[in-house]
Amino acid sequence: MLSLLLLLSISLTSPSSAADFCVGDPTGPTSPAGSSCRKESTVASSDFVFSGLSVPGNTDNIIKAAVTPAFEPLFPAVNGLGISAARLDLAPGGVIPLHTHPAASEILFVTRGRIRAGFISSANTPYDATLKKGDVMVFPQGLLHYQVNAGGVPAVAIVSFSSPSPGLQITDFVLFANNISTALLQKVSFLDAAQIKKLKGVLGGTG
Ligand SMILES: *[C@@H]1O[C@H](CO)[C@@H](O)[C@H](O)[C@H]1NC(C)=O
Repeated sequence: MLSLLLLLSISLTSPSSAADFCVGDPTGPTSPAGSSCRKESTVASSDFVFSGLSVPGNTDNIIKAAVTPAFEPLFPAVNGLGISAARLDLAPGGVIPLHTHPAASEILFVTRGRIRAGFISSANTPYDATLKKGDVMVFPQGLLHYQVNAGGVPAVAIVSFSSPSPGLQITDFVLFANNISTALLQKVSFLDAAQIKKLKGVLGGTG
């Protein structure tokens, strides 16, 4: 009874526009907490709809894969809601290389084909599975993970994240797509200089 009264008094005293949503304002300031909110009077139903995931991503690239994001700022309605989504297309032979989303756990739902996916825990234990259409797999926040096409046909998955801005770091790009010197990379990765130079060449790194 007491809690009911409390609830009632909270709902009666809260301003109605308190925080149902905060559709991100692309022209306003952003912070680690997200974007500033657009005025509620300028927000329409269409702001809560994102149609970009209906279109297959272009997999004509070295990883034969594409990620189409419905994150901030492309889908500003997720701002502040702790949630976002993306579409994953994997052509035959396609791979999303080892990567992490520092700010989000991920849940993946296979809608077409077969996908081999896995993550490595903080104890360095691999968790690997081959998923078929309809399967769901979860990747805990921050852990390195991967997805690989496991069939001879295109595979598609819809993924969702526990953040409007999950972030993305792909290990190979972290190592080889910038200007960290080959000598330093050799020291910190124990890889051969030849292998480092080869991957820098493929991924556009220098040094
Ligand atoms: C490497 O890149 C960074 C950032 O792009 C730049 O500030 C720095 O001067 C570069 N270093 C070398 C050695 O090119």
